[in-house]
Amino acid sequence: MRVAVFSARRYDQSLLTEANHANPAAGHELLFIQDRLTAETAALARGCAAVCVFVNDCVDAEVLQLLADQGTRLVATRSTGYNHIDAAAAGRLGVAVVRVSDYSPHSVAEFAVGLLLAVNRKIARASMRTREGNFELDGLMGFDLHGKTVGVIGTGKIGSLFARIMLGFGCTVLGHDKYPDPAFEQQGGRYVPVRELLAGSDVISLHCPLTEETHHIVDAASLSHIKRGAILVNTSRGGLVDTEAAVQALKSGQLGGLAIDVYEQEASLFFQDLSSTIITDDVIQRLVSFPNVIVTGHQAFFTVEAIGQIMAATVDSITDFERGAPLLNRVPGN
Ligand code: NAI
Repeated sequence: MRVAVFSARRYDQSLLTEANHANPAAGHELLFIQDRLTAETAALARGCAAVCVFVNDCVDAEVLQLLADQGTRLVATRSTGYNHIDAAAAGRLGVAVVRVSDYSPHSVAEFAVGLLLAVNRKIARASMRTREGNFELDGLMGFDLHGKTVGVIGTGKIGSLFARIMLGFGCTVLGHDKYPDPAFEQQGGRYVPVRELLAGSDVISLHCPLTEETHHIVDAASLSHIKRGAILVNTSRGGLVDTEAAVQALKSGQLGGLAIDVYEQEASLFFQDLSSTIITDDVIQRLVSFPNVIVTGHQAFFTVEAIGQIMAATVDSITDFERGAPLLNRVPGN
């Protein structure tokens, strides 16, 4: 099957090619396109029955219509989250949508812990100092995680693993989930209403998907309920946090630290080297100027294990579609 692969970085190209060769039933013709998929670039997929996308590609109703008109019948996203795809519109147009529903959740859970340690113990700041020959400790003090309370919003695959690691640190773990899972409490967590979680946690980590319901789940109102000085970690999706409200809460000291791997306006920034250009997004520039903020560019999934599984699952889904086999990773609502 001819597949247009959008947002194709060097590692996408080599690893997807490898996965395509590894599956004897695959042998797809992969057309790598570095650009993001948008209404302007959709024409590049002409003649491709399948389109393969990533988290910042725009797969809304307009783009889907353009793709369907050109003969595309499958959209395969190399991600778990599918909030960038209008799955219902795709369904109406007869375009199937598949995702990677299962890949190493350890990649993201471990990264969330790393971000928490980095922001709490000022590790990036300390490293920058020592490179300059500055071995001062002033301004680098953090707090013990042992004995603190960690709130986990979204206790699915990643959230429950993050919780387990935090329990290993000797933390009390509170959870909130639309669909509570008894396994979370069996491993030592305790479900509480979201308001109680916000008020009682020294650290809050977001692991729920971005939906209409969870959009800006952290906003000015919820930030007013958190424990003063708490740290917020977001490795899930940028749209969960009202970033302007977070900036205000950082300025007032209500929010003690912010560690994010995702950002609401990341589509025009992330996955590219902008170090020689003027960045016009004042919010991200303000954020990175805070000493108690750490920002990474959506890299939590980026481990050898996770990427290998993502590429293999993507090739498998495309192959299943081509053979008319059941699509095990079809997204809900499609
Ligand atoms: P999952 O589906 O296993 O878990 C999500 C949990 O959120 C479920 O338990 C679900 O019931 C819960 N949830 C849904 N709506 C909710 C609501 N309104 N309030 C509270 N909880 C709610 O998903 P998984 O694999 O744990 O991934 C979580 C998220 O992590 C993904 O949706 C994705 O956005 C993000 N992610 C980020 C990556 C990165 O590189 N930064 C990589 C992979 C995933």
